[in-house]
Amino acid sequence: MTLVSKDILKAAEILSREELVAIPTETVYGLAGNIYSDTAIKKIFELKKRPFFNPLIVHIHSMAQVMELAVDFPEKAQQLAKAFWPGSLTLILKKQKTVPDLITAGNDTVGIRMPQHEVTLELLKSLPFPVAAPSANPFTYISPTTAQHVKNYFDGELEMVLDGGDCKNGIESTIVGFENEQPVVYRLGSISLEDITAVVGNVGVKNDKEIAPNAPGMLEKHYAPRTKTYLVENIDRFIAQHPDQKIGLLLHSIDHNNFEVSEINYLSKTGNLKEAASKLYSAMHELDKLNLDLIVAQRLPDFGLGKSINDRLERATK
Ligand code: TXA
Ligand code: MG
Repeated sequence: MTLVSKDILKAAEILSREELVAIPTETVYGLAGNIYSDTAIKKIFELKKRPFFNPLIVHIHSMAQVMELAVDFPEKAQQLAKAFWPGSLTLILKKQKTVPDLITAGNDTVGIRMPQHEVTLELLKSLPFPVAAPSANPFTYISPTTAQHVKNYFDGELEMVLDGGDCKNGIESTIVGFENEQPVVYRLGSISLEDITAVVGNVGVKNDKEIAPNAPGMLEKHYAPRTKTYLVENIDRFIAQHPDQKIGLLLHSIDHNNFEVSEINYLSKTGNLKEAASKLYSAMHELDKLNLDLIVAQRLPDFGLGKSINDRLERATK
């Protein structure tokens, strides 16, 4: 049985003996281990069934730790860190030799993020090492935004989930790397492209590289429910084309059409994008439990967090 508890000291004790703990963050729950323990890091990959070519994000609690992990902190990276940390931004920086290759999948860069969650910041402050933490889901499945989601995935295989409540942002961090000192977004996420641009000006976007930076095009399917899922613009037409199917709808906001389906889930009654992002994965987990034939998601407006949510829905339906 996996312990679900708010006990930060217990979590620290488990991490200190090279075991794993699922930790809360404001984006999604992470599966954490000591970055300097090969034993712990290998357990992360094993438990997630994640291929070793997919690098992990290192979680820190103070700006000073950046130079322990990275050899260089470019001006624009510093501006972004000042604007958004603690928060849902991951910076990809040139790594120090001391950062194990297992964390970075052999790349000469390391992903670093300071999460915005009191419980996890307190845990990190109490540890003599940073932790690596990918999202706490089996590879390609929906990310967990509650302690219960994590328990459902790994019950009995994981010692503890540190319970920090529901994740308030609900989708993963925005990942920004640097090419010739210029920022490039590698993954759309909880901080909108517009918010990044407001701090550092125009940025490149290479969002298709997520998952396999060294193997683009591979394994694009991700964030996926077990139920076959579609992303569509015209829901009426899709329903008409799929008679006799048990359909669950994932709608962006209240819709006054009377859709004849088994289940309707609204991401936000008022069409609020922040609320929609925070509910996205919970809604997908809910629909996935209902033994439907199909899940049909409605595309969101393509700006702000709508763009990030559409990205996740596209990957879930590949
Ligand atoms: O919000 C988040 O970022 C969550 C929470 C737990 O912090 N973590 C998360 O981790 O989403 P994960 O492992 O599911 O996704 C991390 C992504 C991967 O797609 C990986 O390819 C990319 O970050 N990444 C990590 N290090 C990298 C590096 N050095 N270069 C390029 N991409 C990197
Ligand atoms: Mg993930």
